[in-house]
Amino acid sequence: MAIAVLLLFYLLSISLSFHGDAYIGVNIGTDVTNMPSPTETVALLKAQNIQHVRLFDADKSMLLALAKTGIQVIVSVPNDELLGIGQSNATAANWVARNVIAHVPSTNITAIAVGSEVLTSLPNAAPVLVSALQFIQSALVAANLDDQIKVSTPLSTSIILDSFPPSQAFFNRTWDPVMSPLLKFLQSTGSYLMLNVYPYYDYMQSNDVIPLDYALFRPLPPNKEAVDSNTLLHYTNVFDAVIDAAYFAMSYLKFTNIPILVTESGWPSKGGSSEPDATPDNANTYNSNLIRHVLNNTGTPKQPKVTVSTYIYELYNEDLRSGPASESNWGLFYANGAPVYTLHLTGAGTVFANDTTNQTFCVAKSNADSKMIQAALDWACGPGKVDCSPLLHGQPCSEPDNVVAHATYAFNAYYQKMDKSPGSCDFKGVASVTTTNPSHGSCRFAGSGGKNGTNINGTALAPAINSTNSGSFSQYYNGGFFTSYMILALLLSALVVL
Ligand SMILES: *[C@@H]1O[C@H](CO)[C@@H](O)[C@H](O)[C@H]1NC(C)=O
Ligand SMILES: *[C@@H]1O[C@H](CO)[C@@H](O)[C@H](O)[C@H]1NC(C)=O
Ligand SMILES: *[C@@H]1O[C@H](CO)[C@@H](O)[C@H](O)[C@H]1NC(C)=O
Ligand SMILES: *[C@@H]1O[C@H](CO)[C@@H](O)[C@H](O)[C@H]1NC(C)=O
Ligand SMILES: *[C@@H]1O[C@H](CO)[C@@H](O)[C@H](O)[C@H]1NC(C)=O
Ligand SMILES: *[C@@H]1O[C@H](CO)[C@@H](O)[C@H](O)[C@H]1NC(C)=O
Ligand SMILES: *[C@@H]1O[C@H](CO)[C@@H](O)[C@H](O)[C@H]1NC(C)=O
Ligand SMILES: *[C@@H]1O[C@H](CO)[C@@H](O)[C@H](O)[C@H]1NC(C)=O
Ligand SMILES: *[C@@H]1O[C@H](CO)[C@@H](O)[C@H](O)[C@H]1NC(C)=O
Repeated sequence: MAIAVLLLFYLLSISLSFHGDAYIGVNIGTDVTNMPSPTETVALLKAQNIQHVRLFDADKSMLLALAKTGIQVIVSVPNDELLGIGQSNATAANWVARNVIAHVPSTNITAIAVGSEVLTSLPNAAPVLVSALQFIQSALVAANLDDQIKVSTPLSTSIILDSFPPSQAFFNRTWDPVMSPLLKFLQSTGSYLMLNVYPYYDYMQSNDVIPLDYALFRPLPPNKEAVDSNTLLHYTNVFDAVIDAAYFAMSYLKFTNIPILVTESGWPSKGGSSEPDATPDNANTYNSNLIRHVLNNTGTPKQPKVTVSTYIYELYNEDLRSGPASESNWGLFYANGAPVYTLHLTGAGTVFANDTTNQTFCVAKSNADSKMIQAALDWACGPGKVDCSPLLHGQPCSEPDNVVAHATYAFNAYYQKMDKSPGSCDFKGVASVTTTNPSHGSCRFAGSGGKNGTNINGTALAPAINSTNSGSFSQYYNGGFFTSYMILALLLSALVVL
């Protein structure tokens, strides 16, 4: 009986400790040519309703910009500082004093990620990894911050072997001397296992064993669904299978009550010739489905009641990162704050919601009569009072230089200006409403981000109105297509005369 009561208490405490609603956060890498200022980055986070971020360091100006925003922050000990911290309690205490104590409570630091994928990317530091965590922890205890700030270390899932079926997974035994004390530390401090989960790489390395749909959370035909023959659990996506593999690998070492926090997951939107599945569509599908999955609080087949909060990798495309082309294309946003693609999140709750659900745009019909489109374009830029200066030569929306593209910009600006009122996207029948964001490159369309057009104040790319130009509409359409059209028309009439 006593045992049963104890067990019940134990089970209750497990479910209580990870029962809160799951959330979505983002990683903020800074290998970006024109890295936005911390203030601009925080403005983007606010506009996108992002409440959780992970930094790869503990940059002071970023932590100051995040102060009093309510945004919860994971700071990181970079790998190159790990050896020092793991070898000296004083160095660790000093790091915590400078990078954490100096900023709380105004900046809401909720966790410290000590190193990044240390076992796989910096194995020579593995022997001091757990000491580093312990030294950081004791500095937090001394400052009475250990309740609100958790200490952990993000692991690569490549240390989990035989990960399918999940019930047979175990940690690479080479690392047992580190994993056992690490898990003991996480358990005794009430922390979580930080895990970087990349179905993209699992899929890439699987030699077609893993179907793309399974990696992307797309529905599978029942005969293709993965079933764990030991547990009879059905897996509908790689993400869940990997998380369950991690639970089983932990239980193999006798740890059954440590929750998992996914510190990185994502999909690249562009890659080199050997990375054909790094596309905007796949990245959008993966991240949209991942966000919906996480925010639905579904848990995994093994732990259906245990939510798995997840940080998307990553906020910005990091164009300065070396390696395969995909390496610089994991971001949700360009450095100017424009979305790389528009997430499909209808019904997913509040994160990113206002910018990406129910967005509609007004576009010119590409098969409509060009002369009528031109007339409507001239009207929009003139009597319609749309600021058409971004269409001028050398400005962000001058390319592609044809009447349909230019009219689409102007029609949409008018439509958004009129609050999408009925009839404001008609233009005598040459315009129609779409949910696909027509923004391209640095040409941002009104209505595509933030509450009204541009995401980050100060990075709006549309130039100020140049009054010397505002009277002449022909400049909004700089020759190219229209000239060819006129020439073609002249040729045709010449032919008719002949
Ligand atoms: C998003 O929209 C919801 C409902 O319309 C609103 O309550 C919330 O404040 C909005 N969030 C942002 C960041 O604008
Ligand atoms: C920080 O975030 C935690 C978790 O949501 C919350 O309980 C706490 O009140 C926040 N602290 C501050 C100072 O905002
Ligand atoms: C490490 O330093 C903390 C204060 O930061 C102290 O409380 C703790 O006892 C020290 N631990 C060791 C092993 O020296
Ligand atoms: C286990 O880890 C060691 C050390 O990194 C590595 O050499 C070995 O290849 C790994 N084993 C497997 C099966 O991946
Ligand atoms: C959301 O959760 C419900 C109940 O747990 C489940 O039936 C449904 O399939 C989940 N939806 C998604 C998209 O995961
Ligand atoms: C999105 O549009 C649908 C259909 O028009 C509507 O039912 C839903 O409430 C809208 N959602 C938001 C968040 O505005
Ligand atoms: C965007 O919103 C701000 C503040 O609500 C407003 O002042 C500004 O005029 C808006 N800009 C556009 C292009 O609608
Ligand atoms: C945006 O920038 C303009 C011009 O620099 C400035 O006047 C305005 O106050 C800024 N708005 C916000 C919300 O920061
Ligand atoms: C307006 O545009 C013209 C032609 O592009 C340029 O010469 C002039 O300097 C611009 N004026 C302003 C105020 O930007």
